[in-house]
Amino acid sequence: MITVKSREALSRMKASAKILKDTLSLLEENVKAGVATCELDRLAYEYITKAGARPSFLNYNGYPASVCTSIDEEVVHGIPSKRKLEEGQIVGIDIGVFFEGYHTDAARTFPVGKISPEKQKLIDVTRQCFFEGIAAVKDGARLGDVGYRIQRHAESNGFSVVRDLVGHGIGESMHEDPSVPNFGKPGHGIRLIEGMTLAIEPMINAGSYHVKWLDDGWTVGTCDGKPSAHYENTVVVTKEGAEILTL
Ligand code: MF3
Ligand code: CO
Repeated sequence: MITVKSREALSRMKASAKILKDTLSLLEENVKAGVATCELDRLAYEYITKAGARPSFLNYNGYPASVCTSIDEEVVHGIPSKRKLEEGQIVGIDIGVFFEGYHTDAARTFPVGKISPEKQKLIDVTRQCFFEGIAAVKDGARLGDVGYRIQRHAESNGFSVVRDLVGHGIGESMHEDPSVPNFGKPGHGIRLIEGMTLAIEPMINAGSYHVKWLDDGWTVGTCDGKPSAHYENTVVVTKEGAEILTL
């Protein structure tokens, strides 16, 4: 079931998003070579709980941490650990915050020190894919146009779009209808309605789009071992376009 959020719900989601944005900034400042991903997770847990909120991911279907940290060929859902970040890597950080009854969800991919031009282009194009996608968002638009634009931008830059994972509606639950694929056909899919809230999250691979689940049951990695990037925001559909809550 797709829900349209009330003014009250949206103001709570904005409060949730504020905590999420501040947590992302805190982690961004702490991404450097030598930092273990579990230290980033601890910083996020402390920040979110001190703000009176709850990390959405912790214990979600048994997920053991507050954030996801996905390094290089890891696409999403990497579990924070004692593994230390190394110069030249890229790390996707995905965070969910639950506050006053509402979830928000956002992700960024950060460079660790100096990275290759190829990885930098992957980060840049993945972010651009999000903005290409939301350029199609507004009341009455079709969801297929959003995915189509994301896919077109990724592929025209020589990258590929992950098929096995998609964005989603979000609100009282972290995953609500509709599914928001990062691929699609123009003029297809459901019609967007003002007040719908969506987590739009391109996952873009430098090589082929095929992914596999690792033995920990969570981490998704590229099959070809090439790097992948992730960029996500929670947005509200408006009459004229989209309002980004987590930026
Ligand atoms: N942001 C992720 C998503 O949109 C959620 C991470 S899965 C979790 O699906 F288990 F870590 F919560
Ligand atoms: Co999400």
